[in-house]
Amino acid sequence: MAIVGRTLFDADVEGEAQDIGEALTTVLEMFNLIGRPLALIARQLKLPTASLRRFEVAKGQLDATIYQIIADHRAGKNTRPDLIATLLAARDEDGDNGMSDQQIRDEALTLFLAGHETTANALAWTWHLLSQSPRVEAQLHQELEQVLAGGRLPTVDDLPQLVYTRQILTESMRLFPPAWVIGRRALHDYELDGYLIPKGSVVVMSQWILHRDGRWFDEPLSFRPERWNEGLKQRLPKFAYFPFGGGPRNCIGEAFAWMEGVLLLATLAQHWRFQAVPGFPVEPLPLVTLRPKHGLRLTPQRR
Ligand code: HEM
Repeated sequence: MAIVGRTLFDADVEGEAQDIGEALTTVLEMFNLIGRPLALIARQLKLPTASLRRFEVAKGQLDATIYQIIADHRAGKNTRPDLIATLLAARDEDGDNGMSDQQIRDEALTLFLAGHETTANALAWTWHLLSQSPRVEAQLHQELEQVLAGGRLPTVDDLPQLVYTRQILTESMRLFPPAWVIGRRALHDYELDGYLIPKGSVVVMSQWILHRDGRWFDEPLSFRPERWNEGLKQRLPKFAYFPFGGGPRNCIGEAFAWMEGVLLLATLAQHWRFQAVPGFPVEPLPLVTLRPKHGLRLTPQRR
């Protein structure tokens, strides 16, 4: 969250991270209500149910943070050409109308959420998998010692050499895709393989299911980063592996996420190992993103 705050908004949100994190969790929990029409009607009617009240409070908190960041930019307190500055400077094609605060809020909140929740989950699952696989962990350490001789910090220039580190992240997002499902609404009736998809219906595609399909991946449930060695990506059908979605709405932050994820993994694994606490339950919680249901309990150990 701190990285997204700094890089996209030139804002320091670290102090508020705990509160913002809790508010985001409450808002994400609303996702479960999307499939329940009665809950949506309750919101439209502004019925004071407990979950809706919690949602409104959390939404108010997130709005307050983002609107403050926008106000600071409008007041000239931030001078870096960051994302908010770019949105404030944007004009539409047929006039010189700028964006309203609400429009900027919508864009900014999407990027704020999409920009850290997914990467954080990808890394959390990666530490979990590494804690279960000493062989992979040892090979990671070997690569880091070779590429970052003398224990220096990794930089963007090291990315092409951090091949195994990247394969670990690739394999981790196969088994635990942070975006575990995406949906598209059919604009018109469409026939697919003998099935009619009626206009207006939502088609759901699940990374979780496809990434664990034995047709594309040998021993699909085992964590084997080196499976990506042998040109697997090129051999796979286009949507057998799609942690970042696809088509015109493919993740806009994909390149950012690879860079950030590989650098964070390398930086932390250089100095730390994370050992699983025996008996702590690890279970996925599928909301908008795939989170560890009970969090993760890992013991850091200096290397
Ligand atoms: C491991 C990290 C990430 C994963 C797995 C991920 C995954 C995805 C997926 C699957 C979509 C498409 C959703 C759909 O098709 O309905 C998406 C969209 C999006 N992502 Fe990411 N993402 C990640 C990181 C990021 C980062 C770092 C940013 C911003 C810096 C970002 C910003 C966005 C935005 C703004 C969209 C919406 C794009 C649109 O609708 O046109 N994501 N992401």
